[in-house]
Parts: sequence; C-alpha cells; structure tokens
Amino acid sequence: MGLRSTDTQWGATNKLLHWALFLVVLATFVAVNVAGTYDRGTDERAWWMVMHRSFGLLAMLIMVVYLILRPWARRPYQHGALWQSHLSTVVHLGLVLLVIGMPIAGLLMSQFAQREVSVFGWFAIPVVLGENRDLSSMIYDAHTKVAAPLVFVLILLHIGGALWHHFFDKDNTLTRMLK
Ligand code: HEM
Ligand code: HEM
Repeated sequence: MGLRSTDTQWGATNKLLHWALFLVVLATFVAVNVAGTYDRGTDERAWWMVMHRSFGLLAMLIMVVYLILRPWARRPYQHGALWQSHLSTVVHLGLVLLVIGMPIAGLLMSQFAQREVSVFGWFAIPVVLGENRDLSSMIYDAHTKVAAPLVFVLILLHIGGALWHHFFDKDNTLTRMLK
C-alpha cells in the first residue's frame, strides 16, 4: 500500500488520518458525556471538560491536515449508484464542516465568556476577545443543541452507509478503508 490512494484503493495517508479522526472524535463524545455525570464545579467535571475541549481541538487539527493533504493523497473511485455517492458527499461535507466548525464555536464561547482553554493541561489558549455573555450563550446553544445532535446523526448515517455497502451492496467500500 502506497501513501497515496489509487483508483481502487485508499492510501496509507487517508486511512491513518481517517481512523485517527474517528478515535479522537469518539474521545470528544466520551469525555463530554463522562463530564456530565459529575456535578458542576467539581474537579472531575472540569478535568473531563479539559479533555473534551482538547480532543475537539485535536480533531479539528487532524481534519485540517487531512484537507490540506487530500488533493495530493487523492481518493479511489466510489462504488454504488449516483444517489449513494451524492448522499455520501453531503454527509462527508457535513462531517468536515462540523469537525472544523464545532471547535471554532467552542473556542469562541470560551473567548466571549473570558475563559482560557487549557489544551491537555500543557498550555492554555489565552483570552483575546472582549466579553460578550449573550453571544457566548448563543454559541453554547448552537454547539450543544444544534451541532452536537447533527454531528451524531451524520456519524450514524456515515456508519450506516458503510454497513449498507458491506452487507447489501456487498462491495469493498468498508473493507478497503479498514485494511
Ligand atoms: C469535533 C469537535 C467537537 C465535538 C464533536 C463536540 C461535541 C459536543 C457534544 C456532543 C456536547 C454535549 C452536548 C450536550 O450536552 O447535549 C458538547 C458540549 C460542549 N462542548 Fe463540545 N464538541 C467539540 C469541540 C469542542 C471544543 C473545541 C470546545 C471548547 C473549546 C467545546 C466546548 C464544549 C462545551 C463548553 C460544552 C458544554 C458542556 C456542558 O454541558 O457544560 N467543544 N460538545
Ligand atoms: C467521527 C467519525 C468519522 C468521521 C468524522 C469520518 C469522516 C469521513 C470523511 C470526511 C470521509 C471522506 C474521505 C474522503 O473523501 O477523502 C470518510 C470516508 C469513509 N469513512 Fe469515515 N468518518 C468517521 C467514522 C467512520 C466509521 C466509524 C466508519 C466505519 C464504520 C467509517 C467508514 C468510512 C468509509 C468506508 C469511508 C470511505 C467512503 C467512500 O469510499 O466513499 N468512517 N469518513
């Protein structure tokens, strides 16, 4: 397997970044849900939220690297009917936009609430924007009530599509991303 995709196979670059992205996005979900099991103001909740924010920022970074390398790394031809490739393009685009947009929203809500964002406790992103509590809470609502359920649904559709190809269409869409 080469670093770049061929017309029929994914290259190592796309595969490595794709599965790293999957694990890191999974970690953001796990962290925020574990944080939710602790009361507000506890150290445990604060720690898990640091993990949520840090993994979220890492996911954005991986996605940006993926996009920068994508024209060089290429992709194999897609299988299936035209509606399937159109639907998958919409879902992929949605995932790309949300994995980049959600961390930006997260950073902005912290900025407007005048809170630094600690990255894995290694360093902190300082507050550079002025206070705006209303805007912060609007972005909070967008992040938690709109974007979070949306990204969850898109991930389910994306996994559903992969399983559909595997079990109904019986093509190698899933296996060529795995192996
Ligand atoms: C790919 C990146 C991200 C994803 C998929 C994501 C997803 C989520 C989800 C699923 C929730 C829970 C919503 C709920 O309670 O119903 C949430 C909450 C939250 N996220 Fe993110 N997030 C990401 C990145 C970030 C970043 C980078 C920050 C901050 C810098 C951030 C800050 C927050 C905050 C403050 C909450 C509210 C937690 C609470 O209930 O107190 N998120 N996010
Ligand atoms: C948070 C999790 C995930 C994100 C953000 C994500 C994102 C993406 C994106 C953006 C692409 C398009 C790649 C490109 O065109 O260069 C893609 C392709 C793909 N993903 Fe995921 N993915 C995630 C999880 C998964 C999971 C859990 C599976 C398997 C069950 C999966 C299976 C695939 C497959 C098979 C492809 C290739 C589709 C094709 O050939 O058109 N992904 N993913």
